[in-house]
Amino acid sequence: MRALVYHGPGQKAWEEVPDPEITDDRDVIVRVDATTICGTDLHILKGDVPAVREGRILGHEAVGTVWEAGDGVRRLCPGDRVLVSCISGCGGCRYCREGRYGQCLEGGGWVLGHKIDGTQADFVEVPYADTSTFRIPDGISDEEALMLADILPTGYEVGVLAGGVRPGDVVAVVGCGPVGLAAITTARLYSPSHIVAIDLSDARLEAAKHFGADTVVNSSGQAPLAVVKELTGRLGADVAIEAVGVPAAFELAVNLARPGGRIANIGVHGEAATLHLEDHWIRDITITTGLVDTFSVPTLMRLITTGQITVKPFITHHFDLDEFDEAYDVFARAGDTGALKVVLTRGSE
Ligand SMILES: NC(=O)c1ccc[n+]([C@@H]2O[C@H](COP(=O)([O-])OP(=O)(O)OC[C@H]3O[C@@H](n4cnc5c(N)ncnc54)[C@H](O)[C@@H]3O)[C@@H](O)[C@H]2O)c1
Ligand SMILES: [Zn+2]
Ligand SMILES: [Zn+2]
Repeated sequence: MRALVYHGPGQKAWEEVPDPEITDDRDVIVRVDATTICGTDLHILKGDVPAVREGRILGHEAVGTVWEAGDGVRRLCPGDRVLVSCISGCGGCRYCREGRYGQCLEGGGWVLGHKIDGTQADFVEVPYADTSTFRIPDGISDEEALMLADILPTGYEVGVLAGGVRPGDVVAVVGCGPVGLAAITTARLYSPSHIVAIDLSDARLEAAKHFGADTVVNSSGQAPLAVVKELTGRLGADVAIEAVGVPAAFELAVNLARPGGRIANIGVHGEAATLHLEDHWIRDITITTGLVDTFSVPTLMRLITTGQITVKPFITHHFDLDEFDEAYDVFARAGDTGALKVVLTRGSE
């Protein structure tokens, strides 16, 4: 089969590799019908994620067809159309029993395209298939379902649910990439009174307006804290969501939250951020942070089916599976290309 293989920092190739085989009877082999690229894949290619070894097949998001199922798989059969989640879970360990699949103790969590071969390939072996995949109902297209592999549950679980967004809240979202936009989309389910979107890119802020932000602030020219204070009678936001992953964005999110407010960090941080406890100890704030679990995927699927959320606007570019070079290039130059999610699909072969 063909796969996108990581060959060390800055190097990848779409090349011929051996077909995957079932190595555990709870696994399935999925034929990948649609896959996409995540900002995290760009981090890997920069060499920021040393756990990814040379020779690893990249990718942790896919929609595909079950090709072969191990003898221990109970809920899936060859031919089933499934979403392969960015998070795998054994289903039985202490964390999986709490729905915290991201923290799985038995070889689950974020493993695809990280510790084991991933989804940017013709076929992928998915561990613990019964509890790591979701059957896709009729009425949801492959590419719509693909948006639930990572960005939608991340914005919803780690941003909106962890931040405890409630009706009437003023919500500030720092960072309007696909994940921040997913947080905006799913925050709206809770009827916030106002969503303020903050980014350094006007193109991303235009997208934020389209996804439902009421006010947008380009923080390279305007002070987001002043805007949020003005909107809230000097209090600050009820919930501030960080969806960037740099110290400045985290520190801004902490400052944006009102006394008694909540700060939900989604960003993957590569360096230390400062928490000014000398200023904030007195402000009754709650800070949350974590890895997505994808427990919310069935709920999000229902919300797509009923039209309460729309995910098609996340998809800005389409490619064939063998056009990874072009797709990575367009995705990496999002500032120029306007890319949010690029989708690569299997042609009719
Ligand atoms: N916690 C999790 O489980 C999880 C899962 C998936 C992704 N993530 C992380 O979420 C973050 C966002 O992901 P994404 O794919 O949307 O990334 P992205 O790079 O596409 O978007 C980040 C946005 O932040 C903006 N930005 C950069 N610096 C800024 C600053 N100082 N202030 C305001 N805006 C700034 C950029 O212009 C960009 O639009 C990343 O750190 C990613 O690794 C976390
Ligand atoms: Zn991802
Ligand atoms: Zn587990």
